[in-house]
Amino acid sequence: MATALRRSREPMALDDPQRTGYGDSTEDEEPQDMDESKGPLEESGCTISEDGEEEEEVDDMVLEDMERFEASFKNITQRYRLINRIGEGTFSTVYKAEDLLYEHYKNDWDIDAMEEEANGKTNGKPKPRYVAIKKIYVTSSPLRILNELDLLHDLRNSPNVCPLITSFRYQDQVIAVLPFFQHKDFRDYYRDMSIPEMRTYFHSLFTALQSVHYAGIIHRDIKPTNFLYSPARQRGVLVDFGLAEREFTDASQCACEFKPAERQKRIDNSVYASTFAAAQANGQQPRPAYPANDQRSSRRANRAGTRGFRAPEVLLKCTRQSCLIDIWSCGVILLTFLSKRFPFFHSADDIDAFIELCTIFGKKRMKETALLHGQVLQTNIPTIGDSGHTWEKVLLWCTGRNKKDGVVLSKEELEAVEFMKCCLELDPAKRITADEALQHPFLAAANGTEYSDGSYE
Ligand SMILES: Nc1ncnc2c1ncn2[C@@H]1O[C@H](COP(=O)(O)OP(=O)(O)OP(=O)(O)O)[C@@H](O)[C@H]1O
Ligand SMILES: [Mg+2]
Ligand SMILES: [Zn+2]
Repeated sequence: MATALRRSREPMALDDPQRTGYGDSTEDEEPQDMDESKGPLEESGCTISEDGEEEEEVDDMVLEDMERFEASFKNITQRYRLINRIGEGTFSTVYKAEDLLYEHYKNDWDIDAMEEEANGKTNGKPKPRYVAIKKIYVTSSPLRILNELDLLHDLRNSPNVCPLITSFRYQDQVIAVLPFFQHKDFRDYYRDMSIPEMRTYFHSLFTALQSVHYAGIIHRDIKPTNFLYSPARQRGVLVDFGLAEREFTDASQCACEFKPAERQKRIDNSVYASTFAAAQANGQQPRPAYPANDQRSSRRANRAGTRGFRAPEVLLKCTRQSCLIDIWSCGVILLTFLSKRFPFFHSADDIDAFIELCTIFGKKRMKETALLHGQVLQTNIPTIGDSGHTWEKVLLWCTGRNKKDGVVLSKEELEAVEFMKCCLELDPAKRITADEALQHPFLAAANGTEYSDGSYE
C-alpha cells in the first residue's frame, strides 16, 4: 500500500489567538431519528500504537482526505498540523494533529504535561502536543452538534472524561478539538485481560460514569471504542457524547415507574389480559393475538446506541430511560472480557437482540421484564428455554471449558461475575449505580492490586 510521511508545517502567526467558543449552528436540519442503530462491527477500526511515534506512515487516500479538509476549513493549518486519520465513525472523522499554538494558551486539560511537570520530567524544550480533531459530518443536525459540545462543556472537569479543548466552525463545518489520548485498540487486548486488569479498566470507566451521571447525563453509547484505554498507563477516557442526552429529556410515563401492586392492577386490566382470559374461557390454548382495530398509538422512545450494548429497557422502548442504561453497556463490556468474545451479542436488529437476551435469561424473566415496561412477550422459538442459562455455564462454554469435566470458574472470575450480574440486572431499578459500583468489592479492590506485569497501582 502506498504510504507517505507527513511533513511538518511551520505555524503562522494569527492576529488574535483567542480560542473561540462554540461554533454557530448551520442551517440544514435533519429529521430526528429515534433509532440510531450502530452495529458493533461498524466501529472506527482505529488502531493506535502505544509507542507514541511522532511521525506516522499515512496512507495516500488519507493524505488526500486531510488535504481536502485543510483546504476546506479556512485557517485550520495555522493552528493545527494534521498527522493522521485515527477514526472514521458514523457521525464524524477524527484526526490526530499537532497543536501548533499550544504555547499560546493555558492548557489545563493537559494532564500529561502536568504529570511531567510534577515528576520533574520537563527538559525545558517544547515538545509537540497532540490533539484529536473531531470533524462532525455536515449532515448532522445543528442541534445534535450543539448538544454534543454543550454536554462536553458541562463535563469539562470530570475525571476520565475526555475534555473539550475548543471548537470551531467554518461555514457548515464544525470541529471539536480534544486532547489526543494514546490508547490501544480493544481488539488487541480484550482476550488477554487478567481479572486485576479488568478491575482497573472498570474503575476508570465507572469513575467517568459517576461524574457523567452525577451531572444527569446519559452517555447512551458506552462501548469499547468510546472508552479509550491504555493498558500500559492503566488509564482510560470516555469519548463520544454524540448520542448523549440529559436524563428524562423526552420522558413520559412508563409502567416501570408504578409500584408493583399498581402495575399488576394495570396488567390485569390490559388488552393482553382480556385476550388471554377470553381464550381460556373458550377452552382454547391462549395464542398470540392482537386487537383487530388497535386504537393505541405506537410507542416511541429513544433507542439510540449500538446494537449489542443496548439495555433491555431500550429494546423494550421504555419511555423513562435513565442513566442506568449505561451501566448495562458496561456489563456487556465485562461480559466480553470474561467470555473472550467480541462482539458478544451480534444481532441484525432490536428484535434479534431481544431474542439473544431471552436465550440467556430465559422466557420467564424476560416476560417479567417486558411487563415491567408495559410490553408483552410471546414467543414460540424452541431454543428459548423457560429459565435460560447461568452465567457460569455461558462463560465456561465461551472459553472452551466444560462443567461436566469438573471445571469451574476461578474465585476471581466468580467475583467478576457477581459484579457483572449487578450491571446486567434486567430491572433498571435493581441495577447497580456508578456510585455503588465504585464501592463494590470488585472495583474497590482495584486500588493496591498487583497487575500481571508485576506493577502496582
Ligand atoms: N481524544 C481522542 N484521542 C485519541 N483518539 C480519539 C479521540 N477521540 C476519538 N478518537 C478516535 O476516533 C474514534 C471515533 O471517535 P468518536 O467515537 O468520538 O466519533 P463517532 O463518529 O461518534 O464514532 P462512532 O460512530 O464510531 O462511535 C474513536 O473510537 C477513537 O478511536
Ligand atoms: Mg464513537
Ligand atoms: Zn419503563
